Amino acid sequence: MIRFYKEHDYGSASRRAADILSAQMILKPDSVLGLATGSTPVGTYQELIRRYQEGRISFAEITSCNLDEYVGLGGDNDQSYRYFMNHNLFDHVDIDKSRTFVPDGLDPDHEAACRKYDEIVKSVGGVDLQLLGIGHDGHIGFNEPGDSFDKGTHIVDLQESTIRANSRFWGGDESKVPKQAITMGIATVMSAGKILIMACGEDKRDIITRAFRGPITPKVPASALQLHPCVFVVGDEAAMGDLVKD
Ligand code: GLP
Repeated sequence: MIRFYKEHDYGSASRRAADILSAQMILKPDSVLGLATGSTPVGTYQELIRRYQEGRISFAEITSCNLDEYVGLGGDNDQSYRYFMNHNLFDHVDIDKSRTFVPDGLDPDHEAACRKYDEIVKSVGGVDLQLLGIGHDGHIGFNEPGDSFDKGTHIVDLQESTIRANSRFWGGDESKVPKQAITMGIATVMSAGKILIMACGEDKRDIITRAFRGPITPKVPASALQLHPCVFVVGDEAAMGDLVKD
């Protein structure tokens, strides 16, 4: 089942995504949430914080597993994804931080760090609901085009286009962007019970359409989601185009 939610703008798309996450948290208070970074989910996190402050949802029993992290950045670096999650969500809700997991970008033994992260995801019982954004080249997490669909957590060399897109967080200086990342693989993402992928803005229209209307191919990593039994695609009018609500 793939369900499309075409919302008016970024704010209503963020509220819709927060509805789906909140429903999961209410129905299963000890859910394992797969969480994502990037600018797209920021509004969703703000909405979840608001609902927490109003007493409508609680993170007290929630476990979270993030998708990815830059190699070489620790949690105190303000460009790390651990820092992002603390800053944009965890510091503002009642989550137990010892149950928030982000791949370890500092472990010099990359292979061990990847296996360790797969073990963590397994030991918490797998992800119930995985939130995703999408890169302009169709990447999810940091699974760049060409990565096969059957990988667990692994190290990736970032594409030039991804480095360029993410350099906005380093004042536009591409040389400062880490060249590698540690990411859950497509197989890890696909093992989640439900998937919620967000796309907002005109610049995401082409890739989100290719992901759900084009061929299923590792050249468009997000196209693997067509094979998943339960996917919610949430976006604004600018991104969703002809992808419409069922
Ligand atoms: C990064 C992240 C992805 C994210 C993508 C798009 O590369 N690793 O998880 O989906 O950026 O980000 P944005 O939402 O800012 O467009």
